[in-house]
Amino acid sequence: MSTYILGIESSCDDTSASIIKDDTILSNVIANQEVHHKYGGVVPELASRSHQQNIIPVIHRALQEANINKNQLSAIAFTRGPGLLGSLLVGSSFAKSFSLGLNIPLIEIDHLQAHILAHFAQKPHKRIATPKFPFLCLTVSGGHSQIVKVNSYFDMELLGQTIDDAAGEAFDKTAKIMSLPYPGGPIIDKLAKEGNKNRFTFPLPKVANYDYSFSGLKTSVLYFLRDELKKDDHFIEKNQKDIAASVQYTIIEILMKKLVKAAQDTGIKEIAIAGGVSANSGLRSAIKNGEKRYGWNTYIPAFEFTTDNAAMIAITGLFKYQAGEFTDQKASPYARSKFKIK
Ligand code: KG4
Ligand code: ZN
Repeated sequence: MSTYILGIESSCDDTSASIIKDDTILSNVIANQEVHHKYGGVVPELASRSHQQNIIPVIHRALQEANINKNQLSAIAFTRGPGLLGSLLVGSSFAKSFSLGLNIPLIEIDHLQAHILAHFAQKPHKRIATPKFPFLCLTVSGGHSQIVKVNSYFDMELLGQTIDDAAGEAFDKTAKIMSLPYPGGPIIDKLAKEGNKNRFTFPLPKVANYDYSFSGLKTSVLYFLRDELKKDDHFIEKNQKDIAASVQYTIIEILMKKLVKAAQDTGIKEIAIAGGVSANSGLRSAIKNGEKRYGWNTYIPAFEFTTDNAAMIAITGLFKYQAGEFTDQKASPYARSKFKIK
């Protein structure tokens, strides 16, 4: 008999619901919140209000697109954290009451673990190769930058992480300094495609082990542009593409250096990327180049599984369902990761 899991994701500014049948995605509906764009970042109060408006229509559509009835569901998986508490409350409250109403198990999911396990979700008509354990996953999003050694679905070791800003923040803050809208990552990516990455150079941070730091880069971009603007008011408009390409190149250099070191030191050649920043075209090709350069097997998620989505919650839910790991009605959201990474 097949297992049907409904996944619900509401940790930040995307309301998403997905149905999977065993490991195959039947639907993955995502409602983005335009409301934050004019504020240059996510406004928590507006995010939770939008989740409240979106959640029922999004779940309804996910069931419709999957062409199943709610009574066929085996369990409901929801993001418990980390994320914005007000946003998480909407998804978790809905998941709890729906599971009570349907009398089916409830499964709590850690958002970061789900970004990694998104690699195991299959599309209906074409099965993709999945990473073999142990693999290294570079998880890069708006809130996190980590290198994780994944030994199995539930056994993960944190090798390194950012000591300040996340890679996504480095993109978003650069965009903000350049007066570009939020989220800046996709815009910088687009501009960078037509720019000269060697035009401007920014210093690389010196951080120990496999840890990252991005706050210094943000400051040097800020000071560099401030100085250039003193000489020419229109410096940013005139050099937008080259600035974007140079900053993006620096972020990718920072990310790749530690990842390559971790791969060499552990001897692991199965390399995956996950999280919103894994949508970046420059990072995707840098990882892919590792195949030729270092003999890696690389796993780069399809675009819809890079930024926040509920298919990753549903697939992680499936593994927990199979392991019999259920949650009771008392589980309250958490803002910081509680996922036990060794
Ligand atoms: O995983 P995600 O959707 O949300 C969090 O869990 O944080 O990641 C969002 C982040 C944002 O910082 C956004 O600017 C960045 O991912 N991002 C990108 C690209 N697409 C999204 N950064 C660089 N290039 C992109 N193409
Ligand atoms: Zn995320």
